[in-house]
Parts: sequence; structure tokens; C-alpha cells
Amino acid sequence: MMEQLKNKNVVLCVTGGIAVYKAVELLRLLQKQGAKVRVIMTRAAMEFVTPLTFQALSGEPVFTDLFNDNTVDASIRHIRWAEDADLVVVAPATANIIGKMAHGIADDALSTFLLAVRSRIVICPAMNTAMYESRAVQRNIDILENDGCLLIEPGVGDMACGTSGAGRFPAPADIVDRILTLMTPKDLKGRCVLVSAGPTREAIDPVRFISNHSSGKMGYAIARAAERRGAMVTLVSGPVDIEPPLHVKLVKVQSADQMKEAFLDAMGDADIAVKVAAVADYRVKNQAEHKIKKTEEQLVLELEKNPDILKCAGQKKRSDQVLVGFAAETQDLKENAVKKLEAKNLDMIVGNLVGGGKGFGTDDNTVTFFFKDGRVESLESMDKDQVAHILLDRILSLHSKGQ
Ligand SMILES: Cc1cc2nc3c(=O)[nH]c(=O)nc-3n(C[C@H](O)[C@H](O)[C@H](O)COP(=O)(O)O)c2cc1C
Repeated sequence: MMEQLKNKNVVLCVTGGIAVYKAVELLRLLQKQGAKVRVIMTRAAMEFVTPLTFQALSGEPVFTDLFNDNTVDASIRHIRWAEDADLVVVAPATANIIGKMAHGIADDALSTFLLAVRSRIVICPAMNTAMYESRAVQRNIDILENDGCLLIEPGVGDMACGTSGAGRFPAPADIVDRILTLMTPKDLKGRCVLVSAGPTREAIDPVRFISNHSSGKMGYAIARAAERRGAMVTLVSGPVDIEPPLHVKLVKVQSADQMKEAFLDAMGDADIAVKVAAVADYRVKNQAEHKIKKTEEQLVLELEKNPDILKCAGQKKRSDQVLVGFAAETQDLKENAVKKLEAKNLDMIVGNLVGGGKGFGTDDNTVTFFFKDGRVESLESMDKDQVAHILLDRILSLHSKGQ
């Protein structure tokens, strides 16, 4: 897994809301991204979960009290931790801490630390809907956003207090996603990126279809990476079992025909188009209107060719656009990839060997980039998120050069 917060010092500030227990998962997810996480808790937070849980997981005493502190750098811990921090996350953030931060109040370890912080601060409010929608909290949130804090909007849904509305603690994975976005340079800002992903399904009858093993992971990783780098992303996706990245325009399709329409439609606005989808080459010629019964000993399906989406995209491509394809092959990768690059008027093709447990469905990928000018670059096996970022680096340099 790509550790996008490797060697980063993150301070997790936990205040006294009912969602304190979810901060434990957030801590684990931040650590999974390679961050070194320190924890500060308010007195109210410790009413919900003891500091021992956070201490055991973070490997360092939790900072809870400005004055009764037995650690080595006790007298200045609030300053030292603030100086060391690359990022501070207040989660869950109570109405109380939001008010205190907005007005510069420093009356305990956590609020005093926050005043000394110079790095980015991410705030995850979580509270009863009426509290969240109160004028005072909304006013204080505005102040904090104007002060440069990143607010992660709370979710809407059933609340612990029995009501329903805005104020739920966001999913820890979504908080980490927004943090990674915050920490990623926005080198694709202003660019529109179109990605297709996943398999297509070609109906045999109303209940059966022909498809392939594409999981959509590679295309989704590219869409996610592009969004984190500031691009406006359209993701045309066949049926997959994975969560779509946040803040991308998702267009769901089933068949190759639908994918062609959606992809070519979105291509007009795209600066960069990456076709990762594993589109079925053939579809059933005469789809049965009703479920086919098992009366015959043999059933012969006649297949006809699907439209070649990449070829159509290559014909439509303007000179200011970069078009990238993927070639999933089980043999003769280079020969097949280069042939496809030329035949379809691509700027670059990403070749990967699939089958035998490689490529489809896995988290890692081993790819080779083939460029229009003949350059070839082979990457070692790595996480699909990492492949996505390197691919976007190469695409960006092609786009900046006007190919
Ligand atoms: C059971 C219970 C649940 C609470 N949940 C929340 C909450 O989700 N959000 C919130 O802002 N306050 C909540 N509070 C109120 C805070 O704990 C209270 O305002 C406290 O002073 C916050 O202190 P702190 O900001 O220093 O942690 C809750 C209180 C109780 C008793």
C-alpha cells in the first residue's frame, strides 16, 4: 500500500462527543498511511474513551493536562508538539472546541496546543443537528474556514440522540481521503480528466450476461489520484464492487454501447482521457427477450463485434487533448501494445500482463508505459494508487508539452 503520509507528524485532537470511539479507527487509518500520530484529549473526551486506548495505539502518552503532566518535556509539550506537527486533525470536534478555536480561547491542553499550531488544521464537527445548525456554531465554523482551517462536512443521517439530520461524524476513511487531498499538490488544477473503468456487461437474456474479471481498481485509482491533484474528474464506470472516489462525476453504465456513448460524450470537455475499462469486444447478436430455458442439449450464442471505443476516441481527439489507453494482454505485451498505440492514435499506452493472478482484481500492478515517440518505461510491481500517480505525472508532462 502506498503510504501517502509517510514521515508526517499528525496530531489527532479528540474532543468530547459521542463519536470519540470512531477517532480510534481514524488513528489506525492515519497510521496505515505512514503517519506518526500523537493524540491530545479533552477532559470531556476522556469521559467517553480512556486515553489508554489511544496511548496503546499511538505508542506515546496522550496529552491531556497542561499542568499535571509527568512526561519528559511536560512544561512545553503544547508548544513542542505544535512545532513538530505537519498536520492537525480535530476529530470529533465538539461545538465547544469550535467556539473556543474561533475565539482564541486556550483554557486546557488541547485548546492551548491549537493556538500554537502553524500547520494546516482539519476539523471534523460532529454533534446533534440542532447544535450543528445553530447560528453560533455556523458563525464559528465560518470564522475557522476564513482562518484557513479545512472543514470536513459532517454526514447526514440517523444520530445517536435519536434524531436525523446533519451532524454525524464522517466515515474515518472519508476523513483520511480528504486529508490526503489536502496534502497532495494541486498540479492538475483546472484540467478535466475523463477515466473509464471496470468491465462491461453484455446481456444474453434478461438475467444473464457476458463480462470479464476487471475489478475497476486501476481506473478508480486514477480517478481518485486525479481528483486529489485538483482535476475535475468524470468517471465512466461499468458495474464494480468498489466505492467511487469522493467528488468525481460518476456515470454508471452496463454495456459497451452505453460506455461508448458516455465516454465520447464526456470527451469533448476533457483535457486528458484515460480509457482503462475492459470493454467486451463482442456482444450477443440476438439477445433473448425472455429468460432462456434449459431445454436444448447445446446452446449456441452468436456474437457480434462491439464498437471500438478507443478507436472512436482517437479519431475524435483534438491536438490539445491527451488520450491514453490500457492494453491488458496475456502474451506479446510490447508488440500488441505498440500496435494498439498506433492504430488508435493514442499518446501513450499502459501495458500490463493479465491472467494467472496478475492485473485483474489485485491491489498491485506491474505496468510498462509505451509513448508515441517510441520511449518505453517499465515500472516495478507496485500499488495501483502509486501507478496512478506516476501515470498522471507522465500524462501531465505530455499535456504541458502539448504532446
Ligand atoms: C452523552 C453525551 C454526548 C455528547 N455528544 C456531543 C457531541 O456529539 N458533540 C458535541 O459537540 N458535544 C457533545 N456533548 C457535549 C460535550 O461533551 C460538552 O459540550 C463538553 O463540554 C465538550 O467539551 P470539549 O469540547 O472540551 O471536549 C455530549 C455530552 C454528553 C453527555
